[in-house]
Amino acid sequence: MLTTIKEAAAHVGQEVKLGAWLYNKRSSGKIMFLQLRDGTGFIQGVLLKNQVSPEIWEDAKKLTQESSLYVWGVVRQDERAPSGFELDVTKIEVIQVADEYPIAKKEHGVDFLMDHRHLWIRSPKQRAILNIRAEIIRAVQAFLDKHGFTRVDPPILTPSSCEGTTNLFHTKYFDEDAYLTQSGQLYMEAAAMALRKVYSFGPTFRAEKSKTRRHLIEFWMIEPEMAFVDHEESLKIQEQLLAHVVQSVLDHCQAELKTLDRDISALEKVKAPFPRITYDEAVELLHKEGFADFKWGDDFGAPHETKIAESFDRPVFITHYPTEVKAFYMKPDPNRPEVVLCADLIAPEGYGEIIGGSQRIDDPELLEKRYEAHNLPREAYQWYLDLRKYGTVPHSGFGLGLERTVAWICGLDHVRETIPFPRMLNRLYP
Ligand code: 4AD
Repeated sequence: MLTTIKEAAAHVGQEVKLGAWLYNKRSSGKIMFLQLRDGTGFIQGVLLKNQVSPEIWEDAKKLTQESSLYVWGVVRQDERAPSGFELDVTKIEVIQVADEYPIAKKEHGVDFLMDHRHLWIRSPKQRAILNIRAEIIRAVQAFLDKHGFTRVDPPILTPSSCEGTTNLFHTKYFDEDAYLTQSGQLYMEAAAMALRKVYSFGPTFRAEKSKTRRHLIEFWMIEPEMAFVDHEESLKIQEQLLAHVVQSVLDHCQAELKTLDRDISALEKVKAPFPRITYDEAVELLHKEGFADFKWGDDFGAPHETKIAESFDRPVFITHYPTEVKAFYMKPDPNRPEVVLCADLIAPEGYGEIIGGSQRIDDPELLEKRYEAHNLPREAYQWYLDLRKYGTVPHSGFGLGLERTVAWICGLDHVRETIPFPRMLNRLYP
């Protein structure tokens, strides 16, 4: 039966069989070192010419990078090995000698690597990122499941927008116009009225013509929505959720963080509660920090968010944005209707906004007024208004952008490496 590299520790002194790929090979005369990977980890296999048959030695000599093979060997503990173990190879069976591998061990340009993304994901750094992404998803779901949330899956094809019409992804739905979802939120609000605390986890689409290191065309969002929960309580859930996610990565992904050379001390500071500032305070801070032209009522861009984040060593909530810059469904502050009960959570170290959330308008008349102010077609939103007519209640929710969270936790320059196959402006391949 096959063992995996991850399970090597349980087999010290025993002969095991691995299914693997050759990552690298070195040889010096009568000894050959095979760097093997099997998807669960990396291990060095040591082959001694005088201990294997001549056929096996010749087969091993033919192995090229990414050749696939079965390997038999005895697991040996070795403190010097990065994985802590080595394999004294007794036999190999070649499945395929691979063609010349395009991703050599030298530096490649980003476009080249993106064109070869289907192969690039095999490299140690990319594997580490994808493992951390999976851990983040597990941690989010574990937290939400434990706190009584029910997962609900909203549709991907929709007749209307959630986050404004400028970056809608248009498609045809037989004879009708349709759009790929920008956010499952409106459907989650319906679901919260049925199941109280719900969350969605799925892909969302924004046809954003911006080419920044934070924007993807297709990205994944986790969107909790909670009936009878106000803005304040929602912020508490957000900070607890994120602190739990970071702790889970620290608990389970130390090897991956090391591969990525991530500064662990920055992550260890991520404990709830997070600092909060209002939009007004953030504007004041920007004025002091050299953004003298920034006007009250403008939305923050990446340089503004980065400057604000510099004042904090943990994620920071910016609350109470001007009503005019935010989405139609956000509830105005009863004490000050020109701002809304909302918050964006800005990650430290310049990673930008990772969560956007708000308390939702629960008053049907006010919601209708907002439709008018935003020029929204009544027919497409009639069902959403129904939610305010049949037992409306205070409710809140938020959207956590998975890829930006991965970029921050992994310490990556760009979101393109946070998702297996990124969809970006000018990139639909592979
Ligand atoms: O702030 P946004 O637009 O909020 C919503 O869509 C709400 N309907 C969510 C809700 O309340 N249920 O997006 C939420 C998060 C952002 O904070 C960001 O992390 C991520 O989604 N995001 C993107 N990530 C990658 N590429 C893009 N183009 C993104 N746009 C938003």
